[in-house]
Amino acid sequence: MVKQILMICLGNICRSPIAEAVMVDTISKAGLSNEWKVDSAAIGGWHVGNSPDQRALSTMKKHGLPYKNKARQITSKDFNEFDYIFGMDDENMSDLESRAPAGSKAKLLMLGNFGLEKSDRIIEDPYYQRGDAGFEKAYQQCVVACDAFLKDAVANKL
Ligand code: 4NP
Repeated sequence: MVKQILMICLGNICRSPIAEAVMVDTISKAGLSNEWKVDSAAIGGWHVGNSPDQRALSTMKKHGLPYKNKARQITSKDFNEFDYIFGMDDENMSDLESRAPAGSKAKLLMLGNFGLEKSDRIIEDPYYQRGDAGFEKAYQQCVVACDAFLKDAVANKL
């Protein structure tokens, strides 16, 4: 059975597209592309249909990650389709927990809880920051966390 991962952030134009692209790449490098599917979505609907922020696109491009998806908003169906739904910060997690239909299948996890130091677990929203340093930081956090998650998942620890 293919396992499905959904990356979530507030707008689906900064952090979760990067997390999606990094997870796709991590899975591909592990030779597991036939066993996993990855998507991303937003908590809010403001940017539905839009491509990621230019700074997210340039960060992905810089690291050789292709990205074609457009923003969409999470639906209640997602909570039963996906096996793992990842938030980027505490606000995402409380939004996900309050939207999850009772008894739904998905495990709700904060991405930074995998592989990162406690002080570095929050993948902060870079949208309102000037420049692209926050996007590079989010990328670096995603690289560590996606690798750590995949190792745990393959070892059946989750
Ligand atoms: P993201 O960043 O959640 O990482 O995609 C944001 C993008 C847009 C907004 C907030 C956060 N916004 O309020 O429009």
